[in-house]
Amino acid sequence: MIERRDPAPPPTPIGRVVATEQKPATPHQFHFWTANETSIGIGAIVRVEETGEEPGKGEGGRVVWGVVTDGFAYSDLATPLHDVVGAEGDPARADESPTVRQEIRLWTAAVLRQQPEEPLQPVPLGRVHVATDADVAQALRMDAYLGGAEPRGIPVGLYTSGGLEAPVYLDADFLLGPEAAHLNISGVSGLATKTSAVEFLLGSIFEHFPPHKGRIGAVCFNVKGPDLCFLDHAGSLDEEDRRRYERLGLEAKPFAKVRYYAPFKSDGVNLNTLRTHRELVGAVEPLVWGLREVLDYAEVLLNRDDIDAKADAFIDFLSDRVVDKSFDDGFGGTHRVATFADLERLFRAIFDGLELAGGRGDTWRTHHIATIRKVRNRLSNISTRAKGLVADDGPSSDLPWGRFEDRTVYVVDVANVDPLGQDLVFARVVSKLREHLERRDLGVDAVVVFVDELNKYAPADGPETYVKKMLLDISERGRYLGLVLFGAEQFRSQVHRRVVGNAGTMMFGRMDSDELATPGYQVLSPATKIKLATLPIGELMVRHPHFTQPIFVRFPRPAVLRGRDGVERFPPAADLPFEEAVVRQLVKLDARVRPNLVKDLMADRREDDVRRALALTRQARPQDVFAHFKKLLGARVAAAPVPVRASVPPLNPISDEPY
Ligand SMILES: Nc1ncnc2c1ncn2[C@@H]1O[C@H](COP(=O)(O)OP(=O)(O)OP(=O)(O)O)[C@@H](O)[C@H]1O
Ligand SMILES: [Mg+2]
Repeated sequence: MIERRDPAPPPTPIGRVVATEQKPATPHQFHFWTANETSIGIGAIVRVEETGEEPGKGEGGRVVWGVVTDGFAYSDLATPLHDVVGAEGDPARADESPTVRQEIRLWTAAVLRQQPEEPLQPVPLGRVHVATDADVAQALRMDAYLGGAEPRGIPVGLYTSGGLEAPVYLDADFLLGPEAAHLNISGVSGLATKTSAVEFLLGSIFEHFPPHKGRIGAVCFNVKGPDLCFLDHAGSLDEEDRRRYERLGLEAKPFAKVRYYAPFKSDGVNLNTLRTHRELVGAVEPLVWGLREVLDYAEVLLNRDDIDAKADAFIDFLSDRVVDKSFDDGFGGTHRVATFADLERLFRAIFDGLELAGGRGDTWRTHHIATIRKVRNRLSNISTRAKGLVADDGPSSDLPWGRFEDRTVYVVDVANVDPLGQDLVFARVVSKLREHLERRDLGVDAVVVFVDELNKYAPADGPETYVKKMLLDISERGRYLGLVLFGAEQFRSQVHRRVVGNAGTMMFGRMDSDELATPGYQVLSPATKIKLATLPIGELMVRHPHFTQPIFVRFPRPAVLRGRDGVERFPPAADLPFEEAVVRQLVKLDARVRPNLVKDLMADRREDDVRRALALTRQARPQDVFAHFKKLLGARVAAAPVPVRASVPPLNPISDEPY
């Protein structure tokens, strides 16, 4: 996998290990000096060879690879005062000083690997060479997973130093499970290239996921503007980017298979996404959930103070005994509850029934009326706050559970959804993924879940929300299932410790210095911290279980259209008026649909009825879309109230009010 186009072994050493009593070499760290002019810098990988002066030790001696973590320059001057005296106090004359002082470039390096590994000994005082491709592979222990019958390397970027560069690979078993899993990337906004790096790495994973590990997909939550809305379109790359793709053995092309999901806006017909340009909106599927979907994750809707056993029990009761079953309310009415609207009818029947029953009536089926009211409020709250995602009525439209396809990105656009709705989407999507992966019937063997702005969803402090618990659960147990979390945030310290702590692989883009001063970065040398605080765009520091020290790599721009370029090239369409939006969706289902006929049909119909008919048509995917839609809409008006479902009582048996 790795190109072994090594030039002949580097002939001349560039430095030599030095050790003094004050600065000894240890098994983990050493110092070496170089010429004043050198290509070495912080982050450079070097090879130390024990060669030598001592006969017989040259070949087969100890070899040590290290990464430079700090650098020093000084001369033999005893104190700064000596220089002042030498120049007679005149800085302009300092250069004329008769004796040229000896200078040193001294470097500190952390050991990456030693060979032989046992016994572990101090680094020998040998010659220092710059690393070649093969050295980089060995230093980072990549040889363990790049060769063999089943190579598992995922290119992550190019290690670059002093004119030399070498591809760096991550181990698929440690990035995507089962040995370790998850990735976390942090760094300041705009300069750290977090979102770009994840896009690039996903492309790399799709291209290099080892065949013996099976099929892989990705679910990306778009939480910020148009960020992930154009992953199926090519972005602009420069020559350098293309060269890097080639060097990494990757094709510079956008994702071949991307499916978009977005809820509707509150009008129930226009999609709530920035991917609404005429040419692109056709590929966006609506994400609409009904009562059943919401009820299964109702815990999300109850905040912590709310988590009372009684409300839970009542929700379970609704879920197990009421929804989708024929249910007797105890006041003479029979209900078949499938939608929020049906449930609301049941609630009203209960409240009316209890009221009629007089003073004794404060419990119904062992549930206190206060509990019932509370659950009703929470449920109606979500259907109001996330209207467009949660439909009062009509069928749901969901991700293709059980039919996930290999090498496909499923983008769920929740950027403009109310936070409560976002939580519901996370909770349900991730739980469903987990459920299907446990049963091994998702359609793929592994899924990468990308959550940008992780600090919002798994903050370091704040209440233990359902979403936070779920993200913790993936990071702690997901790797056995093939459920892998890729998270990005500006400040790692603001994300829950166990969520970041469980990420096997960590990447850092340009960092904020205040953040670097927090305890999480104590292991880094001062020079590495400064390098991180000034890291150029497109360069990242990577930590990975096989690498004993952090490594700096450069990666090319992702080959996809950037969100903000996307909205320029494909400006989002203005919201369509209700009728137009309905026509548009029907035409999408069947190009033969004639807009004017649809409009005639819709005249005088209630918008709710039209929405329901549209949803049912979308769900049925009939041969003749217009005829189906017409039948549903016609029937609805003729036979109120809910002809499409059986056994809904036409009248409230308690109040005699029509529903
Ligand atoms: N490898 C690269 N080389 C050069 N420029 C890049 C590279 N990757 C990304 N960029 C550019 O860097 C900019 C910022 O990238 P990106 O949006 O990914 O950052 P971010 O860390 O996600 O920011 P934010 O925190 O605001 O979401 C973009 O304009 C992008 O085009
Ligand atoms: Mg970003």
